[in-house]
Amino acid sequence: MKTYLTGIKATGSQHLGNMVGAIRPAIEFSQNESGRFLYFIADYHSLTTVKKAKDFSEYVYEVAATWLALGLDPEKAILYKQSDIPEIFELTWILACNTPKGDLNRAHAYKAIVQDNEEAGRDPDKSVNAGLFNYPVLMAADILLFDTNIVPVGKDQVQHVEMARSMAQRINQLYGDTLVEPQEALSVSGQYIPGLDGQKMSKSYDNTIPLWVPEKRLKKLINKIATDSTGPDEPKSTEGSAIFDIYKCFSTKEEQDAFAKQFAEGISWGEAKAALFEKVNAELAGPREEYERLMNNRSEIDAVLETGAKKARAIAQETMKRVRKNLTNF
Ligand code: TRP
Repeated sequence: MKTYLTGIKATGSQHLGNMVGAIRPAIEFSQNESGRFLYFIADYHSLTTVKKAKDFSEYVYEVAATWLALGLDPEKAILYKQSDIPEIFELTWILACNTPKGDLNRAHAYKAIVQDNEEAGRDPDKSVNAGLFNYPVLMAADILLFDTNIVPVGKDQVQHVEMARSMAQRINQLYGDTLVEPQEALSVSGQYIPGLDGQKMSKSYDNTIPLWVPEKRLKKLINKIATDSTGPDEPKSTEGSAIFDIYKCFSTKEEQDAFAKQFAEGISWGEAKAALFEKVNAELAGPREEYERLMNNRSEIDAVLETGAKKARAIAQETMKRVRKNLTNF
């Protein structure tokens, strides 16, 4: 039996990129495969940036409600929040003590900040807290604690899964077979979903389409997607079109072929955007209502997370027994 595990960081509103890149494929695994599924809210990961307690708890509820509204069945997948599992933080320390600091220096997220600082002539570690530097170790503990085989993630998280795998390998070499070595499962054939400006959709680029905005706002945002200057009746290329690329994530192969044909024949950008809005909205309308309902019934969310934490801890405690035995003889 394979174990699938993935987490969503609790920061700000979730957007279409999070849904398509991580949440939807993870839920589909739990619906279509047999195995053990652990899906969680990486709330302590967000402490690297979230500094207001009120925001912190709000984001936790938002991510939990997003998982549930998009169809996660808590009977099929264990849904929990990271901070409810103290064993994760114990394993984090153990992994940190067996990870060369140089490996963490090479993590993309950390490297990017250092590079920005250097280019701007600042201290290379300006605005880098030690939590941010250790982020990959905490993420490895999230994964390795549950004997995870498969980690459904977007492309930007692949390096983190590779780091988790090499941490498991090192522990196994040093202390004998102790941890399962995980693999990533890439979604959307390894592509990024583009944002409003055509770059990868990401909060850091300020180009996202949030999942839970009212219908009118969704329409407005889709109308803002960048297009080229081809006239209304001119043939258009699907290549590099953000509208087409987002449409692909919400349609069948036949629908995509039909849409591509319309592009070739010369659909206006306005019509193409309207078609995209219909598709996205059709998929989000039901979940949007459920999301609102859950956000207004938070005790329901609390109950799901509490049950999830109990189930997840039972697994975590078994792994920690093995880890302690092999590493410390206790
Ligand atoms: N780092 C991931 C992100 O930003 C979130 C995350 C934390 C995660 N722990 C994880 C994803 C473990 C997969 C497995 O999206």
